[in-house]
Amino acid sequence: MPAFESRKHSATEVDVAAVVVFAAKGTDGIELGADAAALGKSLRVDLAAELEALRFEGKAGQVARIPTRGRAKAPLALVVGLGEDPDVHALRRASAAAARAASKDSDLAIVVPGDLVEAPVPGRAEAVVEGAGLGAYAFTTYRSKAADAPSLGTVALLGGQGCKHADVKAGLERGEITLRATVLTRDLVNEPPAGKRPPALAKRVEEIAKNARLKVKVHDEKALLDGGFGGIAGVGQGSSEPPRLVEVSYNPPRAKTHVMLVGKGITFDTGGVSLKPSSGMTTMKMDMAGAATVLAAVTAVAELGVKVKVTALLALAENMVSGDAIRVSDVLTHRNGKTVEVLNTDAEGRLVLADALAYAAESEPDAIVDVATLTGAQVIALGNKVAAVMGSDDDVLAGLEAAAEATGEAIWRLPLPDEYRDHLDSSVADLKNIGKGREAGTVIAGMFLREFTADVPWAHIDIAGPAWDDSGDGMLQGKGATGMGVRLLTRYVEDLAG
Ligand code: BES
Ligand code: ZN
Ligand code: ZN
Repeated sequence: MPAFESRKHSATEVDVAAVVVFAAKGTDGIELGADAAALGKSLRVDLAAELEALRFEGKAGQVARIPTRGRAKAPLALVVGLGEDPDVHALRRASAAAARAASKDSDLAIVVPGDLVEAPVPGRAEAVVEGAGLGAYAFTTYRSKAADAPSLGTVALLGGQGCKHADVKAGLERGEITLRATVLTRDLVNEPPAGKRPPALAKRVEEIAKNARLKVKVHDEKALLDGGFGGIAGVGQGSSEPPRLVEVSYNPPRAKTHVMLVGKGITFDTGGVSLKPSSGMTTMKMDMAGAATVLAAVTAVAELGVKVKVTALLALAENMVSGDAIRVSDVLTHRNGKTVEVLNTDAEGRLVLADALAYAAESEPDAIVDVATLTGAQVIALGNKVAAVMGSDDDVLAGLEAAAEATGEAIWRLPLPDEYRDHLDSSVADLKNIGKGREAGTVIAGMFLREFTADVPWAHIDIAGPAWDDSGDGMLQGKGATGMGVRLLTRYVEDLAG
């Protein structure tokens, strides 16, 4: 992660490799805005004409390189396109494009736009920080030589025309927290599966939680069996590394609300004896993205000092094939006493979540939100830019939707129709873990989860598509883990504090 700092310098005074200003795409030509115009003036160039000659139109993510010829301390100015009618999300993406366009290991200064973007100044600064950090992100742990990936040194934020330094600083500080949390999730999800088998991952979570001064409790395999967590124990029994349930809590004084965040943490999903084809397995190290997301969210909420009690539950298991693995038609007994006939061992996420949700409901929190890479059907329905959300409580759902709007992490509501409840009927147990054929796969999974939430207000976010990006969008996103949901959950909890 680059180091961020706010400076009071002007764009021409700041001593860095490149200084970034933004421009929008107007209805007839480039919309420079006050900051780019001021920079052009100091450089004594007709910036609009130069940009036109470079065929720069201000399109989202477009970058023009303008040498400053000794008229600014930075030898290079980057003008980055925001697209038409830019909002704070366009600014985040443009800032990411700027970070990608900067040379490796160099220092950058970014002018937080004084106009063009419809948002308060702290929000603009926050988006600039998140964008630059996510754009520059690369997973480098296993590279023997320096990667071709973007990596930045220091990123200085300068206030654009009319921006108060204090506002820039406040936004920067908040942005660093949400960025760090998103990067934590990306790193954990990108980690190869051998490096994060449940006991090792639980240890790592313990360290992370302790560093963040959070309380942490790890339920090991014995505790899980003794405690009636038949789903987590069952899914984990095919692996030589046993499952874990990790509980991370943040309990600030005078909190009036308690939210429990539950994450699916399958550290590798082979499908079990209902084995996946190899092509379906290549990305399955990401099947713990829900767990990584709820962990990162609770650390961010704590760093922000939000006055809401938050407990994150990470249900960690490795879904393997072995002589000890659960069989198709085995029956598991969950934490709330409900029994489930396992008719497909690849529908394992709902089995571990069932226990974690039932356990969460026991402490009667004000809300439970679970996050999971749960169904292939979610990817088919909504792709990898929009997560699915469903649940039992309109307030929780509306709160998540508001947070999605605010953070640009899109979610879309699906129903949980009672008419489909019989899809889950089993002839030998209380429920079976799959529906009828391929019908309504995401919704059926959600309806299964609902059976374990008692009467606690609950919502479920299926991030199967959005957790991972195979191609990269060239701005916020390279290839691999996205960290989708961290900023959303953090914002949701913050909004609950009022
Ligand atoms: N981890 C997968 C879901 C998944 C698929 C996540 C693709 C990300 C990308 C999950 O455990 C799974 O395999 N679900 C099955 C359920 C089915 C057997 C009812 C699925 O969606 O095919
Ligand atoms: Zn599976
Ligand atoms: Zn899975």
